[in-house]
Amino acid sequence: MTYDQGAWQFDCEPTLDDDQVIQFCRDGYLTFPGVVDAEVNQRACEWLDGSATAEPSFVPAGMSQADLERIRATHEPSTILLENWFIRGVLLESAVAGAVRSLLGAGVGLPVLVSDHSVDCPAPAGEWHYDADAVFGPELRFVEAFYFPQDTPPELGPTEVLTSSHYERRRADPEGDGTAVTSAGPAGTIVVHHQTIQHRKGASSAAGRRRMLKYSYWRSAPPQRDWIQRADFDPRRADYGVYSVARYAAHIYAWLCGRGDDYRLVGGQGWPAYDIDQAGPAYGYASAAGYVPDWRKDNDDDYAQPTRVGDYR
Ligand SMILES: [Fe+2]
Repeated sequence: MTYDQGAWQFDCEPTLDDDQVIQFCRDGYLTFPGVVDAEVNQRACEWLDGSATAEPSFVPAGMSQADLERIRATHEPSTILLENWFIRGVLLESAVAGAVRSLLGAGVGLPVLVSDHSVDCPAPAGEWHYDADAVFGPELRFVEAFYFPQDTPPELGPTEVLTSSHYERRRADPEGDGTAVTSAGPAGTIVVHHQTIQHRKGASSAAGRRRMLKYSYWRSAPPQRDWIQRADFDPRRADYGVYSVARYAAHIYAWLCGRGDDYRLVGGQGWPAYDIDQAGPAYGYASAAGYVPDWRKDNDDDYAQPTRVGDYR
Protein backbone atom coordinates (compact mmCIF):
# COMPACT_ATOMS: atom_id res chain seq x y z
CA MET A 1 0.00 0.00 0.00
CA THR A 2 1.37 3.41 -0.95
CA TYR A 3 -0.28 6.65 0.11
CA ASP A 4 0.80 9.88 -1.60
CA GLN A 5 -0.47 12.81 0.43
CA GLY A 6 0.74 15.37 -2.12
CA ALA A 7 -1.06 13.73 -5.03
CA TRP A 8 -3.97 12.74 -2.75
CA GLN A 9 -3.84 9.21 -4.17
CA PHE A 10 -3.13 5.67 -3.07
CA ASP A 11 -2.08 2.50 -4.80
CA CYS A 12 -2.08 -1.16 -3.74
CA GLU A 13 -2.47 -4.62 -5.19
CA PRO A 14 -5.89 -5.28 -6.75
CA THR A 15 -7.88 -7.90 -4.84
CA LEU A 16 -10.85 -8.58 -7.13
CA ASP A 17 -10.89 -11.15 -9.92
CA ASP A 18 -12.94 -10.99 -13.13
CA ASP A 19 -16.00 -12.63 -11.58
CA GLN A 20 -16.00 -10.08 -8.74
CA VAL A 21 -15.51 -7.17 -11.12
CA ILE A 22 -18.45 -8.48 -13.15
CA GLN A 23 -20.44 -8.90 -9.91
CA PHE A 24 -19.98 -5.17 -9.31
CA CYS A 25 -20.92 -4.36 -12.92
CA ARG A 26 -24.04 -6.55 -12.61
CA ASP A 27 -25.31 -5.82 -9.08
CA GLY A 28 -23.96 -2.29 -8.70
CA TYR A 29 -22.42 -2.80 -5.24
CA LEU A 30 -19.99 -4.82 -3.11
CA THR A 31 -20.41 -5.09 0.67
CA PHE A 32 -17.57 -5.28 3.21
CA PRO A 33 -19.11 -6.11 6.60
CA GLY A 34 -17.30 -4.87 9.69
CA VAL A 35 -13.93 -4.29 8.02
CA VAL A 36 -12.96 -1.14 9.96
CA ASP A 37 -11.31 -1.58 13.38
CA ALA A 38 -13.44 -0.97 16.48
CA GLU A 39 -11.11 1.79 17.72
CA VAL A 40 -11.43 3.70 14.44
CA ASN A 41 -15.21 3.29 14.42
CA GLN A 42 -15.40 4.62 17.97
CA ARG A 43 -13.28 7.63 17.08
CA ALA A 44 -15.37 8.30 13.96
CA CYS A 45 -18.54 8.37 16.06
CA GLU A 46 -16.94 10.71 18.60
CA TRP A 47 -15.53 12.96 15.86
CA LEU A 48 -18.96 13.22 14.20
CA ASP A 49 -20.67 13.85 17.53
CA GLY A 50 -18.18 16.64 18.28
CA SER A 51 -16.60 15.01 21.34
CA ALA A 52 -13.27 14.16 19.66
CA THR A 53 -10.69 16.86 18.98
CA ALA A 54 -9.85 17.58 15.36
CA GLU A 55 -6.27 16.59 14.46
CA PRO A 56 -5.86 17.19 10.72
CA SER A 57 -2.68 15.59 9.38
CA PHE A 58 -2.17 18.64 7.16
CA VAL A 59 -3.89 21.87 6.20
CA PRO A 60 -4.70 21.90 2.47
CA ALA A 61 -3.12 24.71 0.47
CA GLY A 62 -5.11 27.92 0.59
CA MET A 63 -7.12 26.92 3.65
CA SER A 64 -6.96 28.24 7.19
CA GLN A 65 -7.73 26.76 10.61
CA ALA A 66 -10.97 28.75 10.53
CA ASP A 67 -11.92 27.13 7.21
CA LEU A 68 -11.38 23.69 8.72
CA GLU A 69 -13.52 24.50 11.75
CA ARG A 70 -16.32 25.87 9.58
CA ILE A 71 -16.29 22.78 7.32
CA ARG A 72 -16.37 20.37 10.27
CA ALA A 73 -19.60 21.97 11.50
CA THR A 74 -21.51 21.43 8.24
CA HIS A 75 -23.39 18.40 6.92
CA GLU A 76 -20.38 17.85 4.64
CA PRO A 77 -17.66 17.60 7.32
CA SER A 78 -14.92 16.88 4.79
CA THR A 79 -12.10 17.70 7.19
CA ILE A 80 -12.52 14.18 8.57
CA LEU A 81 -10.71 13.17 5.35
CA LEU A 82 -7.59 14.91 6.71
CA GLU A 83 -7.45 12.87 9.93
CA ASN A 84 -4.70 10.25 9.81
CA TRP A 85 -6.73 7.63 11.67
CA PHE A 86 -9.56 8.08 9.12
CA ILE A 87 -7.21 7.95 6.11
CA ARG A 88 -5.44 4.82 7.34
CA GLY A 89 -8.34 3.08 9.06
CA VAL A 90 -11.25 3.84 6.72
CA LEU A 91 -10.17 5.24 3.33
CA LEU A 92 -7.21 2.84 3.01
CA GLU A 93 -8.78 -0.15 4.78
CA SER A 94 -7.21 -3.07 2.93
CA ALA A 95 -10.28 -4.96 1.65
CA VAL A 96 -11.98 -1.81 0.44
CA ALA A 97 -8.80 -0.29 -1.00
CA GLY A 98 -8.01 -3.48 -2.92
CA ALA A 99 -11.50 -3.57 -4.40
CA VAL A 100 -11.48 0.11 -5.32
CA ARG A 101 -8.01 -0.28 -6.86
CA SER A 102 -9.35 -3.18 -8.92
CA LEU A 103 -12.25 -1.12 -10.24
CA LEU A 104 -10.48 2.21 -10.76
CA GLY A 105 -6.95 1.24 -11.77
CA ALA A 106 -3.61 2.45 -10.41
CA GLY A 107 -3.28 5.74 -8.55
CA VAL A 108 -6.76 5.98 -7.03
CA GLY A 109 -7.83 9.54 -6.20
CA LEU A 110 -8.97 9.88 -2.59
CA PRO A 111 -12.25 11.61 -1.67
CA VAL A 112 -12.39 15.39 -1.32
CA LEU A 113 -15.98 15.67 -0.11
CA VAL A 114 -17.86 13.66 2.50
CA SER A 115 -21.59 13.80 3.19
CA ASP A 116 -22.84 13.10 6.71
CA HIS A 117 -26.07 11.12 6.46
CA SER A 118 -26.53 10.63 10.18
CA VAL A 119 -30.10 10.42 11.46
CA ASP A 120 -31.80 10.19 14.82
CA CYS A 121 -33.86 7.01 15.05
CA PRO A 122 -36.60 5.88 15.01
CA ALA A 123 -37.46 7.43 11.66
CA PRO A 124 -39.53 6.46 8.62
CA ALA A 125 -37.93 5.16 5.43
CA GLY A 126 -36.74 7.71 2.89
CA GLU A 127 -37.99 7.81 -0.70
CA TRP A 128 -36.35 5.57 -3.27
CA HIS A 129 -34.28 7.87 -5.47
CA TYR A 130 -31.32 8.40 -7.72
CA ASP A 131 -29.03 11.20 -6.62
CA ALA A 132 -29.59 14.36 -8.64
CA ASP A 133 -26.09 14.20 -10.11
CA ALA A 134 -26.51 10.67 -11.51
CA VAL A 135 -25.27 10.12 -15.09
CA PHE A 136 -25.90 6.75 -16.73
CA GLY A 137 -23.27 5.18 -18.94
CA PRO A 138 -20.72 2.37 -19.23
CA GLU A 139 -17.85 4.45 -17.88
CA LEU A 140 -16.67 3.94 -14.31
CA ARG A 141 -14.67 7.04 -13.46
CA PHE A 142 -15.47 6.91 -9.74
CA VAL A 143 -17.19 4.74 -7.16
CA GLU A 144 -19.09 5.80 -4.07
CA ALA A 145 -18.84 4.34 -0.57
CA PHE A 146 -21.16 4.25 2.45
CA TYR A 147 -19.37 3.85 5.79
CA PHE A 148 -21.34 2.89 8.93
CA PRO A 149 -19.19 3.47 12.05
CA GLN A 150 -21.64 1.90 14.53
CA ASP A 151 -23.46 -1.43 14.59
CA THR A 152 -26.27 -0.91 12.10
CA PRO A 153 -28.88 -3.68 12.42
CA PRO A 154 -32.12 -3.42 10.41
CA GLU A 155 -33.73 -1.67 13.41
CA LEU A 156 -31.35 1.28 12.94
CA GLY A 157 -32.41 1.95 9.36
CA PRO A 158 -29.37 1.04 7.25
CA THR A 159 -29.36 2.41 3.71
CA GLU A 160 -31.07 0.17 1.17
CA VAL A 161 -29.92 -0.19 -2.43
CA LEU A 162 -31.81 -1.70 -5.35
CA THR A 163 -29.72 -4.39 -7.03
CA SER A 164 -28.93 -3.78 -10.73
CA SER A 165 -30.70 -0.42 -10.78
CA HIS A 166 -27.62 1.55 -11.85
CA TYR A 167 -27.97 1.40 -15.63
CA GLU A 168 -31.26 3.24 -16.13
CA ARG A 169 -33.65 5.43 -14.18
CA ARG A 170 -36.57 3.31 -13.09
CA ARG A 171 -39.30 3.19 -10.54
CA ALA A 172 -38.75 0.98 -7.51
CA ASP A 173 -41.44 -1.54 -6.68
CA PRO A 174 -42.84 -0.24 -3.38
CA GLU A 175 -44.01 -3.72 -2.44
CA GLY A 176 -40.51 -5.03 -2.94
CA ASP A 177 -39.50 -7.11 -5.94
CA GLY A 178 -36.73 -8.97 -4.14
CA THR A 179 -33.97 -6.74 -5.42
CA ALA A 180 -33.74 -4.33 -2.47
CA VAL A 181 -30.66 -5.05 -0.37
CA THR A 182 -29.95 -3.65 3.07
CA SER A 183 -26.58 -2.34 4.18
CA ALA A 184 -27.17 -3.76 7.68
CA GLY A 185 -23.98 -4.93 9.31
CA PRO A 186 -21.65 -4.65 12.28
CA ALA A 187 -19.75 -1.44 13.04
CA GLY A 188 -17.23 -0.69 10.35
CA THR A 189 -19.32 -1.94 7.42
CA ILE A 190 -18.57 -0.28 4.08
CA VAL A 191 -20.66 -0.61 0.92
CA VAL A 192 -18.80 0.26 -2.28
CA HIS A 193 -21.36 0.99 -4.98
CA HIS A 194 -22.03 2.43 -8.39
CA GLN A 195 -23.02 6.04 -7.82
CA THR A 196 -26.13 5.76 -10.02
CA ILE A 197 -27.67 2.94 -7.98
CA GLN A 198 -31.17 3.61 -6.67
CA HIS A 199 -31.27 3.82 -2.87
CA ARG A 200 -33.10 5.08 0.19
CA LYS A 201 -32.76 5.49 3.92
CA GLY A 202 -34.18 2.39 5.59
CA ALA A 203 -36.99 2.63 8.14
CA SER A 204 -35.77 2.42 11.75
CA SER A 205 -37.59 1.23 14.84
CA ALA A 206 -34.85 1.43 17.48
CA ALA A 207 -33.81 4.55 19.37
CA GLY A 208 -30.35 5.95 18.77
CA ARG A 209 -28.20 7.72 16.22
CA ARG A 210 -27.42 6.04 12.91
CA ARG A 211 -24.30 7.62 11.50
CA MET A 212 -23.29 7.11 7.87
CA LEU A 213 -20.69 8.86 5.75
CA LYS A 214 -20.76 8.94 1.96
CA TYR A 215 -17.76 9.76 -0.26
CA SER A 216 -16.23 8.86 -3.64
CA TYR A 217 -12.93 7.45 -4.90
CA TRP A 218 -11.75 8.65 -8.33
CA ARG A 219 -10.00 7.12 -11.34
CA SER A 220 -6.74 8.63 -12.60
CA ALA A 221 -5.61 5.86 -14.99
CA PRO A 222 -7.17 4.76 -18.29
CA PRO A 223 -9.21 1.57 -17.92
CA GLN A 224 -7.38 -1.70 -18.44
CA ARG A 225 -7.78 -5.28 -17.24
CA ASP A 226 -5.16 -5.24 -14.50
CA TRP A 227 -7.03 -6.93 -11.65
CA ILE A 228 -6.55 -10.59 -10.59
CA GLN A 229 -6.80 -12.90 -13.59
CA ARG A 230 -7.60 -16.55 -13.03
CA ALA A 231 -6.71 -19.13 -15.67
CA ASP A 232 -10.15 -20.72 -15.64
CA PHE A 233 -12.09 -17.49 -16.22
CA ASP A 234 -14.08 -17.51 -19.46
CA PRO A 235 -15.78 -14.17 -20.33
CA ARG A 236 -18.27 -16.05 -22.49
CA ARG A 237 -19.60 -17.97 -19.49
CA ALA A 238 -19.58 -15.26 -16.82
CA ASP A 239 -22.77 -14.22 -15.04
CA TYR A 240 -23.69 -10.76 -16.34
CA GLY A 241 -27.27 -11.08 -15.04
CA VAL A 242 -30.65 -11.46 -16.70
CA TYR A 243 -31.09 -10.32 -20.32
CA SER A 244 -32.10 -6.75 -19.52
CA VAL A 245 -29.17 -6.28 -17.13
CA ALA A 246 -26.51 -8.31 -18.95
CA ARG A 247 -26.13 -6.02 -21.96
CA TYR A 248 -25.31 -3.08 -19.67
CA ALA A 249 -23.21 -5.01 -17.13
CA ALA A 250 -21.09 -6.50 -19.91
CA HIS A 251 -20.66 -3.03 -21.43
CA ILE A 252 -19.35 -1.66 -18.12
CA TYR A 253 -17.02 -4.66 -17.89
CA ALA A 254 -15.81 -4.11 -21.48
CA TRP A 255 -15.16 -0.43 -20.69
CA LEU A 256 -13.19 -1.44 -17.57
CA CYS A 257 -11.11 -3.77 -19.77
CA GLY A 258 -10.36 -0.80 -22.06
CA ARG A 259 -12.63 -2.09 -24.83
CA GLY A 260 -15.71 0.06 -24.32
CA ASP A 261 -15.70 1.45 -27.84
CA ASP A 262 -15.57 -2.00 -29.41
CA TYR A 263 -18.52 -3.38 -27.47
CA ARG A 264 -21.37 -4.64 -29.68
CA LEU A 265 -24.51 -6.67 -29.03
CA VAL A 266 -25.93 -9.11 -31.53
CA GLY A 267 -29.13 -9.53 -29.47
CA GLY A 268 -31.27 -12.56 -28.71
CA GLN A 269 -29.52 -15.39 -26.96
CA GLY A 270 -26.13 -14.12 -28.11
CA TRP A 271 -23.44 -13.10 -25.62
CA PRO A 272 -23.57 -11.68 -22.94
CA ALA A 273 -26.71 -13.76 -22.41
CA TYR A 274 -25.79 -17.11 -20.91
CA ASP A 275 -27.89 -20.05 -19.81
CA ILE A 276 -26.43 -22.79 -17.64
CA ASP A 277 -28.24 -25.34 -19.83
CA GLN A 278 -26.71 -24.34 -23.15
CA ALA A 279 -24.55 -26.96 -24.86
CA GLY A 280 -21.80 -24.58 -25.98
CA PRO A 281 -20.59 -21.01 -25.58
CA ALA A 282 -22.96 -18.25 -26.69
CA TYR A 283 -22.53 -16.77 -30.15
CA GLY A 284 -21.70 -13.10 -30.56
CA TYR A 285 -18.78 -12.70 -28.12
CA ALA A 286 -16.41 -9.93 -29.25
CA SER A 287 -18.48 -9.41 -32.40
CA ALA A 288 -17.20 -6.59 -34.60
CA ALA A 289 -20.76 -5.83 -35.73
CA GLY A 290 -23.94 -5.27 -33.77
CA TYR A 291 -25.56 -2.68 -31.54
CA VAL A 292 -24.54 -0.39 -28.71
CA PRO A 293 -26.86 -0.42 -25.65
CA ASP A 294 -29.15 2.59 -25.46
CA TRP A 295 -27.86 4.15 -22.26
CA ARG A 296 -29.40 7.55 -22.84
CA LYS A 297 -33.08 6.48 -22.82
CA ASP A 298 -35.07 9.68 -22.48
CA ASN A 299 -31.95 11.51 -21.39
CA ASP A 300 -33.56 12.84 -18.24
CA ASP A 301 -30.26 13.47 -16.50
CA ASP A 302 -29.80 16.57 -18.73
CA TYR A 303 -26.38 15.54 -20.00
CA ALA A 304 -25.66 15.64 -23.73
CA GLN A 305 -25.23 12.66 -26.02
CA PRO A 306 -21.69 11.55 -26.85
CA THR A 307 -20.45 13.17 -30.05
CA ARG A 308 -20.60 9.84 -31.86
CA VAL A 309 -22.15 6.49 -31.07
CA GLY A 310 -19.68 4.36 -29.18
CA ASP A 311 -17.58 7.27 -28.02
CA TYR A 312 -17.23 6.19 -24.43
CA ARG A 313 -13.59 6.95 -23.71
FE1 LIG B 1 -29.16 9.74 -2.06
